[in-house]
Amino acid sequence: MSRDDLEGHLEFFGELGVDGLRLDAEWRGRAADRREFADAAAPPAAPVERSASPAATLVAIRADLGDCTRCKLHGLGRRQIVFGVGNPDADLMFVGEAPGADEDIQGEPFVGRAGQLLTKIIEAIGLRREDVYIANVIKCRPPGNRNPEPDEVGQCEPFLFRQIDTVRPKVIVALGKFAAQSLLRTTDPITKLRGREYRYREAILMPTYHPAYLLRTPSAKRQVWDDMRRVRAILGGE
Ligand code: URA
Repeated sequence: MSRDDLEGHLEFFGELGVDGLRLDAEWRGRAADRREFADAAAPPAAPVERSASPAATLVAIRADLGDCTRCKLHGLGRRQIVFGVGNPDADLMFVGEAPGADEDIQGEPFVGRAGQLLTKIIEAIGLRREDVYIANVIKCRPPGNRNPEPDEVGQCEPFLFRQIDTVRPKVIVALGKFAAQSLLRTTDPITKLRGREYRYREAILMPTYHPAYLLRTPSAKRQVWDDMRRVRAILGGE
């Protein structure tokens, strides 16, 4: 970890008001006690493309996507498709909503201000950005960052499902209301969804607040920190 990375990491802890880490087993117990599995009404896992390596399969899925024109977003000013990035064998996957302006320019999810905060969040549980896999429900930037529309989600989410079924993470963190609602097929508010764990495809899905919301509402960082400690406990990182 570079000096800059370390500074960012400590700054995030400082912003959270974290002055020390609990390394005892109590936490792990709490995580298990609080797990309220709710099976999500999501399409079943595909009969997966498991003969090739996950890395090769992701390349094939990206090739299938091609220069996608399946929905209207291709004609509404997107510069490029933002597919996903990270470790094809990751135990932890983050799913956001859709690319913003920075992601549309750079072709990588979560590289703007919210993305930089996400990187700090990942580092705060002892992982590096390249250890996890990061993708969005929607692969093209909606104009003016408007919410994705149902037909756009319908065309795009099968590619996310294939990414999930290829990476086969143990834990999926849904970032924000849109990703959580769309993965879980619910209209429940994020305040109700977060803090719970859902069985989702072959993973445990945990909704939490979107990093862009944390930039506007720093007081919510404490809850995200709680969620991330639970992620770390599930992954056995304590
Ligand atoms: N917000 C998202 O939901 N996804 C990104 O990739 C960037 C910002």
